[in-house]
Amino acid sequence: MSLFNPGRAPGWPVVLVDGPVLLRPYRRSDAAAWSEVRRANQAWLSPWESSLPGSWDELNSPAAFRWVYRDQRRSARTGEGMPFAVCLREGGRERLVGHLNLGSIVRRAFCSGYVGYWVDSRVAGRGVIPTALALAVDHAFGPGGLHRVEVNIRPENRPSRRVVEKLGFREEAYHVRYMHIDGAWRDHIGYAMTSEEVAAEGGLLARWHRIRAGTG
Ligand SMILES: CC(C)(COP(=O)(O)OP(=O)(O)OC[C@H]1O[C@@H](n2cnc3c(N)ncnc32)[C@H](O)[C@@H]1OP(=O)(O)O)[C@@H](O)C(=O)NCCC(=O)NCCS
Repeated sequence: MSLFNPGRAPGWPVVLVDGPVLLRPYRRSDAAAWSEVRRANQAWLSPWESSLPGSWDELNSPAAFRWVYRDQRRSARTGEGMPFAVCLREGGRERLVGHLNLGSIVRRAFCSGYVGYWVDSRVAGRGVIPTALALAVDHAFGPGGLHRVEVNIRPENRPSRRVVEKLGFREEAYHVRYMHIDGAWRDHIGYAMTSEEVAAEGGLLARWHRIRAGTG
């Protein structure tokens, strides 16, 4: 169990890499790239995101990124979150293609957090988010000092459920009218994993590599 020392968030900041997938803290200079990806993916992302007042274009403008960035910096500084920009390294350049946040971190006797994620539809189906999630979970269970990670997913979201099911998260709950998503209170299925469940396998990334290679 890690006893959190306020003023220094365990495991943050950090850059995590596996092949072409790279996770890093956001930068102020991500505004234009973030806005382009978010605006290009309105139809792809909006069914799965929390309801917020304002138009999609306004909420995802380069100017809006300033607030997103500030909020993420604050949560990372206080140890409540680990907000990662998900990037793909291809052809010698790094491109922002998604987001993964380990948020609502509670320490002391819980040492747990919740994960949310999305990826650009133009790179969907390439295993970017399972790789990102495996990297983040191993980091959370190691330097991040956490013991449990949860992911809550709408039953209708087959692609997202595939992500956690492929990685071997446990389905452990059904939360009725759990979150206000896309204009209504939506049920969610609760998936979770604790550090003991992957320790013997050398971590979640090692498990994911074996699954992808067809040997897991
Ligand atoms: C859920 C999501 C993050 C998955 O990311 P990813 O990097 O594409 O993950 P994977 O490559 O492992 O693909 C997962 C599943 O998506 C489906 N999929 C694959 N290519 C796809 C495509 N081009 N379009 C739609 N779905 C596709 C497949 O069912 C795949 O499962 P499989 O491995 O059994 O074939 C992504 O679909 C997404 O961003 N969706 C919109 C936002 C969202 O749902 N966020 C999560 C909220 S809980």
